[in-house]
Amino acid sequence: MHPQNPIQTALITGGNGNLGRLIADRLLADGKSVIRFDIPGTEPASTRPHETIISGDIRDQQLVESILTEHQPDTIYHLASLLSGSSEADHEAAWEINATASFHLLKCSVKHGVRTFFFAGTNASYGGGLTDPMPEDAPQWPENLYGATKVAVERLGVFFKLKNDLDFRVLRFPMVLSPFAPTTAVTAYPSHALRAAVNHSAFVFPVAAQTGMSTMFLDDVINSIIDFSYAPRSQITQHAYNLHGYFMSVETLIAEIQQHYPNFRYRYEINPVVETLISNWPDTIIDRHARADWGWNPRFDLAQSVTHMLKLLAPPE
Ligand SMILES: NC(=O)c1ccc[n+]([C@@H]2O[C@H](COP(=O)([O-])OP(=O)(O)OC[C@H]3O[C@@H](n4cnc5c(N)ncnc54)[C@H](O)[C@@H]3O)[C@@H](O)[C@H]2O)c1
Repeated sequence: MHPQNPIQTALITGGNGNLGRLIADRLLADGKSVIRFDIPGTEPASTRPHETIISGDIRDQQLVESILTEHQPDTIYHLASLLSGSSEADHEAAWEINATASFHLLKCSVKHGVRTFFFAGTNASYGGGLTDPMPEDAPQWPENLYGATKVAVERLGVFFKLKNDLDFRVLRFPMVLSPFAPTTAVTAYPSHALRAAVNHSAFVFPVAAQTGMSTMFLDDVINSIIDFSYAPRSQITQHAYNLHGYFMSVETLIAEIQQHYPNFRYRYEINPVVETLISNWPDTIIDRHARADWGWNPRFDLAQSVTHMLKLLAPPE
């Protein structure tokens, strides 16, 4: 429990997405009121006490302002976004949803007295040529539009923090091991390999055995967002924090899978684009400030993540 946490009403944009619904679960369990805002067609089947579901497009500025006027959230978890693949597929929409709508939401937050604004950043906001371990002050020069929109919002949020005292907070996540990883995301091959293992199907790895990167388990992503957003403002010394869980290569992943499924079948078919992307990503990301300032401490190492993922993915008995 976090007795000193003053959050009462939180708006979660992208509130029906993979992270959004898990954040909603945690906030409701902690007795907060939650407004989940997401696009039509993503609504949950039912609504719980203290939970409001609102459907619409975050680009609809009037609607967004009316939500803040009516519900007066003290905290916003801004998760609505096009992810990397969809951002490359439609640059215009990516800029409007990820950047312009965020700018408007930040302006509205100041106008309507929102206290804390959490933004989900990403290590895709860094480009290539990074040193490994990656230091906390590594320059951000993203090479895809998704990363560019994320850096843009980080800078906008800091502008409103400095100018209007908005308590703007950012976490940048590495690769996330998740049972909900979209099947179309080729870089999510570790999550897909675990699914193949429980289904007893053979898996084709798109990168070499030693290739890997800094990774976190989904539950630790949610833990980090909750712990960070609940931390008193006096503990926050940085505009944005990088997080690191553990290094995971294909061969270390396979070794863990084989602890549970000794007959796991796999082969390699290297996809040069994915291979380059993952090889350029740091194996280790320095996250000293997150650990020192607000107590970041991943609860899942690789073995625990794999055990947990396999349980979640296993078909019901
Ligand atoms: N899961 C990860 O691996 C990861 C890593 C780094 C950063 N992030 C960030 O965390 C946030 C949540 O990610 P996620 O994994 O839950 O992704 P997700 O795609 O499941 O969630 C994003 C949500 O935004 C909603 N959305 C998209 N366009 C919208 C619009 N025009 N109006 C309103 N809502 C809209 C989607 O419907 C979706 O529910 C995103 O900002 C993402 O960039 C996620």
